Amino acid sequence: MQRLISKNKSFRLVQVTDTHLYADTSHVLVGMNCEEGLLDVMELIRKKEKVIAGVLLTGDASQDNSAVSYRRLHTTLATLGARQHWIPGNHDELKAMQKALDPGNRCFDKSIRFGNWLVLMLSSNVVGAVHGFLKKAELEFLEEQLKTTDAQHVLVCLHHNPVPVKAAWLQHHALQNPGAFFDVIDRYPAVRAVLFGHIHHELKRQRNGVTYFGSPSTCIQFHPTSEDFALEHRNPGYRWLELHPDGQLRTGVHRVRNKTYAVDFSGIGY
Ligand SMILES: [Fe+2]
Repeated sequence: MQRLISKNKSFRLVQVTDTHLYADTSHVLVGMNCEEGLLDVMELIRKKEKVIAGVLLTGDASQDNSAVSYRRLHTTLATLGARQHWIPGNHDELKAMQKALDPGNRCFDKSIRFGNWLVLMLSSNVVGAVHGFLKKAELEFLEEQLKTTDAQHVLVCLHHNPVPVKAAWLQHHALQNPGAFFDVIDRYPAVRAVLFGHIHHELKRQRNGVTYFGSPSTCIQFHPTSEDFALEHRNPGYRWLELHPDGQLRTGVHRVRNKTYAVDFSGIGY
């Protein structure tokens, strides 16, 4: 476990998600160059954020699962000067991600301490599938961490959405066993929030005293209410989070402004 000790301190984190990079930086996804989107979001983060304690990368790091794209993403995020914490999305393979990066790095630690807060990184991906599933071992890890931690507040991160979204096609690819996840979460009142990627749009839901946050991608944005695949006319962005020692969590989303991307809004899939 990584530990940043300072129980009276607040920690500012950023969530960067669904970067969908290719080995070849000239490749586009539904018309959009994802490398360009990421670099624009990086510039935005540098402009908006002063001190960052950590970068939460919540999956779909690469569109082609290439070592080159993982290494390039790691190098790009490292320019923020903060620790990185990675989990895989449905387009990634955890083993390929781990193999691509230096074996000594701590990106894949699943349990990170920020003062009074514990941040848990869960893997919900199913190799070869778009939907998510939390395996028994992952749920046992979650339970064990919640049972034994002396942290007063907990943030849980995973790639797939455990709460429903309004976009029907997207909901089809959600976490398939949210009930098993809620069974654990519901028994530990220290859980304050759950953070995920996958849905490529901003979302906030309350459930049993826990707040669930979805976030924009650094490339294409999915329409939040469409029956079928559809993109929204919004720019890439990131989520910032402030973990306060009293359990308060402040958060918001910043998006790239004053720029138009070559997105193909007539696209029927990705
Ligand atoms: Fe994605």
